[in-house]
Amino acid sequence: AIDISKLRDLTGHITLDFGYKNTGSTKSAITFLDGELGILKYRGYPIEELAEKSNFLEVAYLLIYGELPTQEQLTNFQAQISRHTLIHEDMKKFLDGYPSKSHPMAQLASLVCSLSTFYPESLKANSSPETMDLTMIKLLAKFPTIVSFIYKKSLGHPLIYPKNKYDYVSNFLYMIFGQRTEEVEIDPVVVSAMNTLLILHADHEQNCSASTVRMVGSSDCNLYASVSAGIDALWGPLHGGANQAVIEMLELIKEDGGDTEKWINKAKDKNDPFRMMGFGHRVYKNFDPRAKIIKKACDDVLEKLGINDPVLEIAKKLEEAALSDPYFVERKLYPNVDFYSGIIYRALGFPTDMFTVLFALGRLPGWIAQWKEMHENKEPIGRPRQIYVGYTDRTFTKIEDR
Ligand code: ACO
Repeated sequence: AIDISKLRDLTGHITLDFGYKNTGSTKSAITFLDGELGILKYRGYPIEELAEKSNFLEVAYLLIYGELPTQEQLTNFQAQISRHTLIHEDMKKFLDGYPSKSHPMAQLASLVCSLSTFYPESLKANSSPETMDLTMIKLLAKFPTIVSFIYKKSLGHPLIYPKNKYDYVSNFLYMIFGQRTEEVEIDPVVVSAMNTLLILHADHEQNCSASTVRMVGSSDCNLYASVSAGIDALWGPLHGGANQAVIEMLELIKEDGGDTEKWINKAKDKNDPFRMMGFGHRVYKNFDPRAKIIKKACDDVLEKLGINDPVLEIAKKLEEAALSDPYFVERKLYPNVDFYSGIIYRALGFPTDMFTVLFALGRLPGWIAQWKEMHENKEPIGRPRQIYVGYTDRTFTKIEDR
């Protein structure tokens, strides 16, 4: 029998930190955040400035390559992406196989993973930098097409193929809201709101999905499969799935008569599993700087589109009540980015179960940048330890004697 006490001596000291609340997994030069002061910067640029002055593709370039692009670099980046927006026609067979009401995140994760079957050059761990670059470009290019195909299929509508005369975000909106036979007018207010939302979601250092992408990639697994794993991690309601959960919660409160006080009390009750979705954050214990920007974008979009959403009224009441409640104040629970993003997506006409997919589209450059940095740093395979708490010594009993 194994003498566990001896084994412990051999393994040395192990730090136990459930959820890695205080354990750094890497050194990174991509995103800086200070949860106490509510600061978020990509490659040293404040999120507020990027959201105001930049567009999503420019930010994607910044995250992945470390510098803001020159006009020539950006034009070239956009042109390369435009060249690869189509997906292999055979991928539509997978799409056809999914039940039409299945969750789009499940479809997204498997379609992104299946890109590695069509582009086997991406599988080699020691691909040339050119092949690595092309894989990143292909993923950025094909992701919006995959998302739009999933969406159109869910409606039973014909698939809309990319139009490369449009910029990245406009092309995405065209594929989502366009009809096959007509040119659609893409509202600049919608393009601008979408750019803001995608920029705000583009990276967030070692969150659950980014660290999943790094962990999976650390075994030299290809980019498509690593990002597919990140999509799965994002799906959960405690991470990216919160934006869907927020709207579902607000709907529920509305249908229940709109008594926000009652729901706040439920969130405070430790015997009730209900949590106020869209409140709290692992790192931001003061405020989420993205929530501030998004709140303004939300007001602008609703005003410009002339939308009067009763769910927004509930959201505002909830926010006010929670922010003056000692339970939320003491625990530093503030609205996070997901509290408002769902309201904007809804105003733009996206169905609720597409919200987390939109988060994934925004987070894609961050996942790519994290995966690239992990490789460039030549990081070892991720392999945490554990504290064993199971039986130490048992005697096997034959099945007939149990
Ligand atoms: N509603 C009610 N109480 C909450 C909430 C909430 N949303 N969030 C945290 N708390 C309470 C906890 O019950 C705990 O109370 P206690 O100290 O009395 O036991 C305390 O606040 C600390 O909470 P933890 O769960 O320890 O905080 P943690 O950092 O582990 O969790 C998380 C952060 C997962 C985001 C949590 O706040 C939560 O579940 N929020 C709702 C889901 C959500 O909005 N997720 C989106 C995150 S942002 C993103 O992914 C982009």
